[in-house]
Amino acid sequence: MLKQCLVTDRLMLRRHRRSDARAIAELLDDWDVARWLTAIPHPYTRRDAIDWIAQCERNWVSGKDYQFVVVEPASFTRRETIVGHIGLAVTGSPDTGELGYWFGRRYWGHGYGREAAAAVLAFGFDCLRLDRVEAASLPGNRWSRSILTAIGMRQNGIRLLSFHAEPAPVACPIYQIIRAELAGRKPI
Ligand SMILES: CC(C)(COP(=O)(O)OP(=O)(O)OC[C@H]1O[C@@H](n2cnc3c(N)ncnc32)[C@H](O)[C@@H]1OP(=O)(O)O)[C@@H](O)C(=O)NCCC(=O)NCCS
Repeated sequence: MLKQCLVTDRLMLRRHRRSDARAIAELLDDWDVARWLTAIPHPYTRRDAIDWIAQCERNWVSGKDYQFVVVEPASFTRRETIVGHIGLAVTGSPDTGELGYWFGRRYWGHGYGREAAAAVLAFGFDCLRLDRVEAASLPGNRWSRSILTAIGMRQNGIRLLSFHAEPAPVACPIYQIIRAELAGRKPI
């Protein structure tokens, strides 16, 4: 059976619950987070989060998209705290996953992005049996680029993408890693 929960040194990545909506809306209703994401409305409400969670669950069941909420588990803080979101969408190209993530601003710079991304990459190759994982980021997003290169991804193209924050599609660098490249890497 497919893993429903990934555990790293400091984080737990689990499937969404409807009760996560308030915390997700609170973190995502932040222009400094939303401006880097393709499909996030701004302002972002609890209703948006409820709809998103329902969509994530439908997609998970249909095997199209595997999105996790990222939490500091109860053993690390006093009670579980939602810090961000990460996932892999299985795209039209066979056996390719599209990596996407965001973290609440107050949790930036703790290495959580890198830790969660490494775990989801392993999930994609080991559990979903993907052959390739891709990710796109806005050209100015050096923090995201730093995560992608740290987990072994390399730029291999440009794609025009639409963002809520941008008036016209933007040419974005596309990063990728294939299964054979992951095999020789040391764990992060
Ligand atoms: C990009 C993002 C996910 C990084 O998450 P994070 O948990 O802070 O990432 P990490 O702590 O693993 O750090 C990644 C890099 O960003 C740097 N960084 C993180 N926050 C920073 C800040 N506020 N100022 C400067 N650098 C910062 C880290 O130093 C690190 O760089 P390094 O490898 O050169 O040391 C987070 O900033 C975010 O959610 N941004 C908005 C949404 C977004 O951009 N999503 C990705 C779309 S492609």
